[in-house]
Amino acid sequence: MIEKDFIPLAYSQEVKEAKIAWKSPSNIALVKYWGKRADQIPANPSISFTLSACATTTTVEFEILKTPLNDFRFDFFFEGIPKEDFKPKINRFFERTMAYLPFLKSYHLKIDSTNSFPHSSGIASSASGMSALALCLVDFERCLNPDITKEHFNKKASFLARLGSGSACRSIEGSLVQWGTHSDTKGSSDLYGIQYKGEVHPIFNKFHDTILLVDKGQKQVSSTVGHGLMHNHPYSEQRFAQAHHNLSSLRTMLASGDLKAFIQLVESEALTLHAMMMTSRPYFVLMKPNTLEIINRIWAFRERSKTHVCFTLDAGANVHVLYPENEKKQVYQFIQDELLTFCENRQHICDRIGFGAEKIARTPHT
Ligand code: DP6
Repeated sequence: MIEKDFIPLAYSQEVKEAKIAWKSPSNIALVKYWGKRADQIPANPSISFTLSACATTTTVEFEILKTPLNDFRFDFFFEGIPKEDFKPKINRFFERTMAYLPFLKSYHLKIDSTNSFPHSSGIASSASGMSALALCLVDFERCLNPDITKEHFNKKASFLARLGSGSACRSIEGSLVQWGTHSDTKGSSDLYGIQYKGEVHPIFNKFHDTILLVDKGQKQVSSTVGHGLMHNHPYSEQRFAQAHHNLSSLRTMLASGDLKAFIQLVESEALTLHAMMMTSRPYFVLMKPNTLEIINRIWAFRERSKTHVCFTLDAGANVHVLYPENEKKQVYQFIQDELLTFCENRQHICDRIGFGAEKIARTPHT
């Protein structure tokens, strides 16, 4: 599919008002997206586990305007409180998506979002937040055009979420989602994420991700700026090629359940992401001393316990500790005994692999 396939033809229904809510999860990349071209096109393909506990619930109330306007009319509330400072980002999102959602300027939108994870926990809310909003918008469009298929619905939600935040396009479905054109993956696209259709060994069912909140402060460098630094980066071409290669290798590991190989690939991806940040100009370090402490403890524990615990990182200091269901008791005990001491106030989130976004309510009144 190409961009123009997401521009709707005429709508068959008239809807005066509606209230729609979706809960959408966060995701954690195994092969990382780092670097992008214009219009949110990723420089390399990526794949993620969809999460379950970390999620955003967004409700949008649509009310038809007497006459369509030249700008977007909306109010934004975060946990019931008006948030003016979030509005420019949403306005930019509407500008980017307007061609694909021509109804936008004909309605007033009241948007209310709630996160399941603590505010300012250093957990990126853009993936869950942008995907939840995109889902509400596509669901409203489905009221205007009920013929839209489930497949097109999911693709369009992912396509729109990507325009809000790249990684958000991997939060619509579960449990593994791939985004970005990749020669070994039929149907892969730079425009939207697709559910991973390759074989997946049962060891990955119910995989755990315990997120250790090492540093809850504001990030030094936003992801958008970080992506930008991959232009003219001395190692970018090798990195993009490596991501393609790693994705192909990961397909084999996911099928065979080879956790040893999986661990090496996932940890190497996390460290490569941070190595790219450390070797860009300007350079920066997002890991904290406690991030490194945790990584070293994980390596030592893995060696002595012969378990299959590993870590990954996103663009920050927090550590995602990944482990299979059959080792959960032993690994969680280790996390409590040895790792929580490196978290701010021992804070952590027990998450696990999830199945994608869920609709909460939909009440159109025509
Ligand atoms: C390190 O999706 O936050 O988490 O497209 O600029 O919104 P924008 O960036 P964003 O980048 C996330 C990068 C990452 C790796 C990943 O999730 O693949």
